[in-house]
Amino acid sequence: MKNILITGGCGFIGSHFILKFLKVNKDYHLVNLDNLTYASNIKYLDEVKDSPKYTFVQGDIVDFELLKDLFLKYQFDSVVHFAAESHVDNSIHSPADFINTNILGTFNLLENAKNLWLNEKFELREGFKKSKFIHISTDEVYGSLGATGLFNEQSSYLPNSPYSASKASSDLLVRSYFHTYGLNINITNCSNNYGPHQHNEKLIPTIIRNAIAQKPIPIYGDGLNVRDWLYVEDHCEAILQLFNKGKIGEKYNIGGNFELTNLEMVNIILEKLDSILPLGNNESYKKYIVFVKDRAGHDRRYAIDSSKIKKELQWSAKTSFDSGIEKTIHYYISLYKR
Ligand SMILES: NC(=O)c1ccc[n+]([C@@H]2O[C@H](COP(=O)([O-])OP(=O)(O)OC[C@H]3O[C@@H](n4cnc5c(N)ncnc54)[C@H](O)[C@@H]3O)[C@@H](O)[C@H]2O)c1
Repeated sequence: MKNILITGGCGFIGSHFILKFLKVNKDYHLVNLDNLTYASNIKYLDEVKDSPKYTFVQGDIVDFELLKDLFLKYQFDSVVHFAAESHVDNSIHSPADFINTNILGTFNLLENAKNLWLNEKFELREGFKKSKFIHISTDEVYGSLGATGLFNEQSSYLPNSPYSASKASSDLLVRSYFHTYGLNINITNCSNNYGPHQHNEKLIPTIIRNAIAQKPIPIYGDGLNVRDWLYVEDHCEAILQLFNKGKIGEKYNIGGNFELTNLEMVNIILEKLDSILPLGNNESYKKYIVFVKDRAGHDRRYAIDSSKIKKELQWSAKTSFDSGIEKTIHYYISLYKR
């Protein structure tokens, strides 16, 4: 039985990945290392918590000695690294946590993987020849696009927030461990995910929660910032395929190929809510939309060219936006409707 380390598995994307990974990989024991920040919820993993193939460790990726003990104890075959401070707004108010977790935490993981997997530079130890470090990152590292164009894997890194700058730094560290030491790595840069398990503070849960509570639904600026939306399960499928077949040392963009302005997104959700939970008197939840002062450094448009992962790994997003958002809306209604 091989051991794999997943970091940040009690968060939004990591929790979906763990559930999927354990269903399809019967020959792995999985260790989920998460320090349970406000953004996590250990209950997302209730269905696997008693499995002999699953171990939860509450701990911080910034704690080098803890990582050293875990790598020694479990002799991890691979790492999929989700743990991060992930909310852009928080990075504007409190950037220090982003620097610690996203940069220092990633460095600590890389060092421990290097120490376990390599005899010396470019020489993988017996038993670790196929070991792989998959680093989960974001399209935000590329900065902002104009009205046209797509980010591809060659796009320059031009991060605009402390969050995206910390993720960009971590991507570059991961890249350097491939080029300098020969560590087997993949980096993913993906677009906005949506689906169940997202923390309350994020856009889609906020829209649904406030609509149901009949409270103002805040939209930054003019609402015309464009994002490309990817259903979380499709993202996890892409990571699984990378785990199995991703070319060593490569980075892959992953997108949903579904661009919407924030205002379009809000309107779609509210129209669906109008039919699922009608307000009555022919009224629409849209009356709760309010435009608020724009976020500092707010990127105007992100859009992803996923042709590399489509061509090399035959991956594509399978969930239509219509069905993905309906599943998502029903999930948050069951969470927020009392
Ligand atoms: N959500 C998106 O739309 C999106 C898009 C692109 C990339 N990403 C990237 O995907 C990854 C996962 O994002 P998410 O949305 O699931 O984030 P999340 O905030 O929902 O979850 C992050 C998890 O990491 C854990 N964590 C944070 N700091 C830690 C630390 N120091 N030590 C151990 N655990 C720690 C948290 O407790 C939480 O469970 C992140 O690296 C993020 O940058 C997310």
